[in-house]
Amino acid sequence: MAVNMKGKDLISINDLTVEEIYQIFDLSRALKEKQLTGESHHYLSGKTLGMIFHKRSTRTRISFEVGIYQLGGIGMYFGPDDLQLGKSENIYDSAKVLSRYLDGLMIRTFSHQDVLDLAKHSDIPVINGLTDLLHPCQVLTDLFTIIEKKRILKGLKFAYIGDGNNMAHSILHGCSKVGINVAIASPSGYTPQKEIVENAARNAKYMGSKVEIIEDPIYAVRDADIVYTDVWASMGQESEASERRKHFMKYQINPELVKNAKDDYLFMHCLPAHRGDEVVDEVIDSVNSVVFDEAENRLHVQKAIMALVM
Ligand code: CP
Ligand code: NVA
Repeated sequence: MAVNMKGKDLISINDLTVEEIYQIFDLSRALKEKQLTGESHHYLSGKTLGMIFHKRSTRTRISFEVGIYQLGGIGMYFGPDDLQLGKSENIYDSAKVLSRYLDGLMIRTFSHQDVLDLAKHSDIPVINGLTDLLHPCQVLTDLFTIIEKKRILKGLKFAYIGDGNNMAHSILHGCSKVGINVAIASPSGYTPQKEIVENAARNAKYMGSKVEIIEDPIYAVRDADIVYTDVWASMGQESEASERRKHFMKYQINPELVKNAKDDYLFMHCLPAHRGDEVVDEVIDSVNSVVFDEAENRLHVQKAIMALVM
């Protein structure tokens, strides 16, 4: 039976039930089909999505803006210097005012707490388009892409190699909710947050799957169905890039490392990729790579999210 998600925020995959996650995937599949066949699907006719960006974006901005348009609504982009929010107006007042004009808000910013506060005080649904802590829309899209390619989720092995960052955290939330075995290999000092790992371990236990946090990338990749990586220095960490490169070099996804994965493994990356750092051309351009399918699916999955919550 359909779960009513109207008015719900999408801040973390951990806030979603398994039924809600699969409902998002079912609607994503239907909307993708309608988009490809040219069938009208104006589920959000006349509605407006505010899109607040305090960090750069290609995929998130374009897929949300095109997505709301294809659903019959309109997106309004607000860049880092456009709003009073967080500068000359506090989050409470901004949330109340924005709620009087808009039907939904998508925000990409640094502080996760700011998104929680915005959602708490808004009377409209708030969608997290990436914070320093989480990137839920990306990982929901990645799981949807895995279903398209592998037909199942439960029981697969997902190896994430690299920084214990926002991607690693949402991967821990997402994989543990749906019963994917997840192995995260990061250098010491760059591991994911302990509370998120512990929470994922509890979810995984309930689903009969495993969570492993290790240092050895070869062990993590062994027999993996999915090999995932992300940049070594995220947005906001640019000044640390050369120091981080020293710690992460042995975490590069290259042909030698992926020999340990299953033959039909999927190479995944949220993009943007720093070719030559976390991944080399021979892997990202190989037949195993599904990075552009992931990018396309952001559109379909976020349309489903908007149609369900707005
Ligand atoms: N993957 C992702 O969120 O890309 P952008 O930073 O380009 O939005
Ligand atoms: N970890 C990266 C993800 C970009 C989509 C960042 O936060 O910059």
